[in-house]
Amino acid sequence: MIKATNIHKSYGQLEVLKGVDLEIKTGEIVSIVGESGAGKSTLLQILGTLDLPTNPDKYNTQLTLAEQSFLKMSDREISKFRNQNIGFVFQHHQLLPEFTALENVLLPTRISGKNEKESMDKAFQLFEELHIAHRVDHRPKELSGGEAQRVAVARALINSPKIIFADEPTGNLDSKNADALHQLFFDLRDKYNQTFVIVTHNKELAESTDRKLVMKDGMIL
Ligand SMILES: Nc1ncnc2c1ncn2[C@@H]1O[C@H](COP(=O)(O)OP(=O)(O)OP(=O)(O)O)[C@@H](O)[C@H]1O
Ligand SMILES: [Mg+2]
Repeated sequence: MIKATNIHKSYGQLEVLKGVDLEIKTGEIVSIVGESGAGKSTLLQILGTLDLPTNPDKYNTQLTLAEQSFLKMSDREISKFRNQNIGFVFQHHQLLPEFTALENVLLPTRISGKNEKESMDKAFQLFEELHIAHRVDHRPKELSGGEAQRVAVARALINSPKIIFADEPTGNLDSKNADALHQLFFDLRDKYNQTFVIVTHNKELAESTDRKLVMKDGMIL
């Protein structure tokens, strides 16, 4: 489902990713762990089509998701591909402040022109599963950190993407809600064969995934 070879990323002189290779199968749940600053979020953003690697031609970087190579896609093609195939949970939730929780979650379905009634049902189902049904009409600033994070998870899942990238999705959650979120990820994988790549500092979550990748200084060990 995901195939990457020789990803490099530099910010000026600072080399953040130093040649990352990885391959993740359909339906796999993979965790990425490592010290702060190791490059985990940078890698996830590139895998998730939200950022570009440095000098892909020089390094002969290859990046494919769902059998499609996206490095050469136009912005418009990438946006469409992302909307249909990828869910992304940001480390800092990135909800739109002027929209309610429900509106934030429905946004991807509106972009893809899905049936409003079905989308609404699905949104409410996710809100139930994530224990935030009582907060649908709140705006992000009226949500706690953990609630905002779960709204962001619902937004990532609403379009039933093939691949979900989650950057510390349990960072702001108590252990009960963290467990519920892990369970939801595993249930979705079992039901729909969705693929998950999860950056986490949560040891329990990291150990419970199919495979744990350790990042250090811009490399996967
Ligand atoms: N836009 C940027 N410009 C310059 N340096 C950056 C930029 N984005 C990230 N970095 C640097 O790249 C390195 C890797 O950052 P990244 O966010 O990928 O780390 P991380 O492994 O996700 O850490 P954490 O566990 O703290 O979230 C850091 O040292 C950071 O300072
Ligand atoms: Mg990070």
